[in-house]
Amino acid sequence: MIVQLPGIQREIAMPAIPDDERVWVPQAPNVWFRPLLLNTVTGSWCNLLRVRRSGVLSRHIHPSWVTGYVIRGAWRYLEHDWVAREGSFVYEPPGEIHTLVVDEAADGAQEMITLFNIHGAMVYVDEDGRQTGYEDVFSKIAMCRRHYEAVGLGAAAVDELIR
Ligand SMILES: [Fe+2]
Repeated sequence: MIVQLPGIQREIAMPAIPDDERVWVPQAPNVWFRPLLLNTVTGSWCNLLRVRRSGVLSRHIHPSWVTGYVIRGAWRYLEHDWVAREGSFVYEPPGEIHTLVVDEAADGAQEMITLFNIHGAMVYVDEDGRQTGYEDVFSKIAMCRRHYEAVGLGAAAVDELIR
């Protein structure tokens, strides 16, 4: 017998890498994200990040923790000497500041796709540590809604990923 607990959230089960290119939300030149779970209860989100050659995810700090799993390609942070490659697991502790790059010359990949679980926020900072912007689950939802409306998928394509 299958018992559904009262009040439990709806599950999600779907292909993570979409067939439809429009599902990728542009974030910066050569940087896109594909939302998988937008959790407004915990203030966290889960997405695929795709970065192609010469793409840079601007310098940012995480007030909370992040985990990642590299599905394809390779990337690194300008602030560290390790390279995350296909199959790598990454933990970014609270307080960590970094700038993500795909560097074909150094790491041999033109593209990367990584599954990231992000909690709280990403706070973008300049060279002196001054805040230049931020993202949280609500700004992510807004970005998705704008993009999905613009490309004809409709906002409902985002709503089904919100909990
Ligand atoms: Fe990060």
